[in-house]
Formats: sequence, structure tokens, C-alpha cells
Amino acid sequence: MTTTASRETTPRGTRGLTGRTAVVTGGAQGIGAAVVERLCAEGCRVLVYDKSAEHGESAVARWRGQGHAVALAVGDVTDADALAAAFSGLPADWPTPTLLVNLAAGFVFKGIEATASDWHAALDPTIIGLSLATREFVSRLPERDADAAIVNMASISAHIAQSGYLTYNTGKSAVLGFTRCVAQDLAPRGIRVNSVSPGTVWNANNERYHKEALGLDRATAEAAPEHGGKFLLGRFADPAEVAAPIAFLLSGEASFVTGADLPVDGGYLAV
Ligand SMILES: NC(=O)c1ccc[n+]([C@@H]2O[C@H](COP(=O)([O-])OP(=O)(O)OC[C@H]3O[C@@H](n4cnc5c(N)ncnc54)[C@H](O)[C@@H]3O)[C@@H](O)[C@H]2O)c1
Repeated sequence: MTTTASRETTPRGTRGLTGRTAVVTGGAQGIGAAVVERLCAEGCRVLVYDKSAEHGESAVARWRGQGHAVALAVGDVTDADALAAAFSGLPADWPTPTLLVNLAAGFVFKGIEATASDWHAALDPTIIGLSLATREFVSRLPERDADAAIVNMASISAHIAQSGYLTYNTGKSAVLGFTRCVAQDLAPRGIRVNSVSPGTVWNANNERYHKEALGLDRATAEAAPEHGGKFLLGRFADPAEVAAPIAFLLSGEASFVTGADLPVDGGYLAV
């Protein structure tokens, strides 16, 4: 007898993450790194798939030093062969991955002046890469009762118009459509697919941007009505505050949630 799922099915309404294998694209830094840390704390083994060898190697060395089971595969989400090699190269004693978090994205902020190459840089990772990582993950799951879950990274930018953000917001809007369609297609196989839509998350990139472009530290930026003040909670998120709802959507506690987008935005989309 052969089996691709080497564990019991998660009882409905329970956490059920311990002992499972998760794959996190874009897991070397920022929100992705917080997701890896959260899933390690939940008792998962985690494959970090990231195009940055530098950040990936230092983060994974740190996590391993803390006793966590973390593997690194360096590659671009737009590279189907590298994705296949990453999944195939997992340690033989790890269970088949049943959790996938798609975070890698194209950070291109252009308006209607965007060239074809700008559009590829924006959409290839955000949508084609998302699709390829999802396809590779799903191809290794059983046809029925896979007991698997996927969380895709959208953004408040998927829901609103922002000047100069055409390329980015178009990609993030497409993540919502992708999530709903794939949720429909994969539901019969026991695979749930959801997305999260964070507001501004205070990571290294946002810290640099606020400091260099706006001359603002975190406290000053959060006090400004057009920055932190635009969120009902009057501040930015920490990466761990996005990782926690992602872990919830992956877990058995979200066993009847699929095709949904969860705002993690300090109330921004509520008003
Ligand atoms: N930071 C925010 O305020 C915010 C808000 C809403 C949504 N998001 C989304 O969250 C996700 C993570 O953002 P972040 O701010 O933590 O970014 P980040 O730059 O801190 O980390 C992104 C990681 O993804 C990796 N990566 C980028 N392109 C890749 C590719 N093509 N293939 C493989 N790896 C790739 C990078 O090397 C990096 O390690 C993105 O999808 C972003 O759009 C961020």
C-alpha cells in the first residue's frame, strides 16, 4: 500500500498543525519569516522557498539553532523546475507538505505608464508564481481527503484604488480571484484555499521607506492621519499579527472556511 499523507486526518474544529509540513514562499524575511516562526511554534516542519540565498541562509541557520525543523530551497516562484526540485528535495522523513503559504510577490508600484516589463515584474511572481507553487503543492496531494490548506497573500490593496499602485493592486486583486476559483476546484479533494488582506505591516522595507522617503520613525508615522492613523486601530501591524490569522486559516479551527479573504487591517476596510 502506498500513501502520500502520513498522518491522521485533522479532527474538525481543532488546531491540528503539530507534526505537519508547511511550505512558505517568501519565507526568508518580513511577514514570511514571522509565518515560519509561528508555524515552528505550532510544531510544524517548514520548507522556506525564497529567491534570496543571503536572507534565507541566515534565517534558517537562526531557526535551526533554536531547534526548529526548517529547510531552505533557494529559487524564484516563477521557476517551475526549481519549485519541483524544492519539494522533491525535502528530507525523506518529513511528511508530505499539506500546508502552503504563498507570500512571494512582485513589488512594482507603477501607474498607467507601466511597460510590459514592469507588468511582468509585477504579475509574474504574484500570479504566475502563486499558480506554479500551488500546482506543485497540489500535485503531491491525494485525490481525496487531502486534509490540506493554502493561504495566499492579498492586501488591502486588492480591495481599493491607490494612486501609482496600478501594477501592484492589479496583482493583489487577481490573488482574490485566484483564491476563489482554486478553492472551488480543490474543495472536492479536501483542500481549503483562503487569503489574507493585511494593511501596512511594519517590516524592514516599510521602516526603510518611512525613514528614507518620508523622514518618519514608527511612532511619528503611526500618529500621522495619512499613515498609521488611517487604520481604525491607529497603528501599523507587526508581522506576527499577520502570521497568527494565517496559522488560524491553515488550522483545523478553520475547517469550514474556504474561498474567503480575511482582512487583517486594523479595521481599514470597515469604513
Ligand atoms: N509589508 C506590508 O505592509 C504588506 C501589506 C500587505 C501585504 N503584503 C504582502 O505580504 C507579502 C510579504 O511582504 P513583506 O512586506 O513581508 O515582504 P519582504 O520584502 O519583507 O519579504 C518578501 C520575501 O519574498 C521573497 N521573494 C520576493 N519575490 C520572490 C520570488 N519571485 N520568488 C521567491 N521569493 C521571492 C524575498 O526574497 C523576501 O524574502 C507580499 O505578498 C506582500 O505583497 C505586505
